[in-house]
Parts: sequence; structure tokens; C-alpha cells
Amino acid sequence: MKLSELVHSLPINKSKSQCLYRLMRTLIHSKLFISAKISDENEEEGYWLTPSSQILLKDNPMSMAPFVLGVSDPIMIDPLRRISEWFQSESATPFAFTHGKEFWEYVGQEPRLNNLFNEAMVSDSMLVISVVMKKCKQVFEGLISIVDVAGGKGVVGKAIVDAYPGLKCTVLDLPNVVDGLEGGENLVYASGNMFDFIPSADAILLKWILHNWSDEECVKILKKCKEAIPSDKGKLIIIDMILDDQHEAFETQLFFDMVMMNLFRGKERTEKEWAKIFSESGFTTYKITPVLELRSIIEVFP
Ligand SMILES: C[S@@+](CC[C@H](N)C(=O)[O-])C[C@H]1O[C@@H](n2cnc3c(N)ncnc32)[C@H](O)[C@@H]1O
Repeated sequence: MKLSELVHSLPINKSKSQCLYRLMRTLIHSKLFISAKISDENEEEGYWLTPSSQILLKDNPMSMAPFVLGVSDPIMIDPLRRISEWFQSESATPFAFTHGKEFWEYVGQEPRLNNLFNEAMVSDSMLVISVVMKKCKQVFEGLISIVDVAGGKGVVGKAIVDAYPGLKCTVLDLPNVVDGLEGGENLVYASGNMFDFIPSADAILLKWILHNWSDEECVKILKKCKEAIPSDKGKLIIIDMILDDQHEAFETQLFFDMVMMNLFRGKERTEKEWAKIFSESGFTTYKITPVLELRSIIEVFP
């Protein structure tokens, strides 16, 4: 789109149109747009979307807009402004220090945050599972049953049963996430607390769960998962991040670690830190398959 068209399409005055030009200049520098000549006949420049901005369009089926809106909401950002006060407090997280309760308790009581967070997770899951199914579908091969522990609204579970019609999936999550959701022939929702009970299955999936929790809490979750799978042929399928200072996206990994520190008692983990919690939970081996820039699949075996 030409700048002149952009200015005319918006109800803004002349001084604001200069601001718009400056904003677009910054967004081009940030690689959210590129500018190029519109045609060979004239010199006028136009703007084109880049892959980074295409993925933010609301009508893109893989839109990450809900995720970006979720993580940048004031309710998530405000605690970061109070981080120095928090360091001197007894509160476990900046979020709890600022809002007076832990993240999951707040989400369970506030429908706006519940909706914002769940939709953010839906958008992330749509993107991640589409790549997993293209690159590493084989991790689900041969399974008869799977439980997606803390599986949110079930986007990942649905994609798995669609890809493997013989496979039955249970999506376990808290009542504020799954109550009222209807499953299907091979998918059921279970409402409950993963620290209390995890239904039995051949495999347990944990996507973007363990980084929300401390090492001690992860060991409790992992031990419950171990009880739920067969000791000979069962496995965990973890989709999460491996912190690595040699990774080209290490800076982004560190920012995610700050998000964990802000909202939860969890953290992003190096391979060594992952191995430690697996071994403390009684698992013997694991296999890592990188799947996306920031996510890996970790298969963990009893
Ligand atoms: C970061 S989200 C990930 C959701 C989903 N796995 C995904 O990737 O889209 C974490 C999920 O953990 C759920 N959760 C938090 N505490 C839980 C608990 N004690 N028992 C079961 N689920 C829990 C939340 O409701 C939320 O859906």
C-alpha cells in the first residue's frame, strides 16, 4: 500500500500523517514491513508485509495476534514495572506481588484474563502443532491413547486425533478452561488438577507446561505422569524450550525466561537442567528433536 493511500484510509490529521511516516520507518527497520518502489513509472514507495507481520493478521488461520495481545496486555506487563520492589518482598513472583494472587488463581477468577490467556494459547498451539505434524508426526505413531496434560482448549489434542484416527486423546485442564467444552468421537475433556490425578494412557503430552513450574513442582508433575503410563512402552512427549547460549535465538530464549520469572515460579531450562528433573522423577532416557526455532520435542522414557 502507498503511504498516501494509508494516510487517506485513516481518519488522521496532517501532523499525525508525519507521525505515521515515522512509525512506518521504525516498523520497516524492525522488519515488520518492507518498502519498495510501487512501479517502474514513478518513484512512489509502497509498503509490503513481511513474514513477521503476515503472521499477525487477524484473518491468517495461523494468526499469532491473540498471543501477542495476550503477552503484551497491561495485566502481564505492569508487574515488570515493580520488579525492584518485588525483589525486596517475600512474594514468589512479580505478578503475585502486583495483583495479590498467583497467576493461575487470578486466571481462574477473572473471565477477561481467562479468555485472553486461553486464546493466546490457542493461537500458539495452532502454529506449533501444524509444524510438529509436518516435521515430527512420527512421535505419535503406534500410540493407542494419549493424555494432553494441561492441554488448554484442546487444539493440539484435536490435531493429533485427526491425524491418527485410531488414537484416543484426553485433554486434562482446570475447570475454568475445559468445563462446557464438547469432545468428539476420539477426544474427551477431563476437568481437574494435574497435581492430584492424571488419567492413564500410552503417552502423556506436556506442551508448554513444565516451564511454568519450579523444579520441585515439575518433579511432582513428572512422577504423576510416570504413574499414568506403562513402565515398558510408555513415554512422555514434552514440547518446550531448551535454553542454549549457542542458539541463534538465545536472546529471545532469555526474554521468555523473564516472562516465566514475571508470571510463574517456573523457568526456561538448559538440557542439563531438563536431564536433572527427568532423573529425579525416575525417568531413564530422553531424546530431543528440535522442531521450531524456540521449541523442541523431548521424548522421555521410564
Ligand atoms: C501455558 S498454558 C499451555 C496450554 C496448552 N498446553 C497449550 O500449549 O496450548 C498452561 C496450561 O496449564 C493449565 N494448568 C495450570 N495449572 C494446572 C493444574 N494444576 N492442573 C491442570 N492444568 C493446569 C492452565 O489452565 C493452562 O491451560
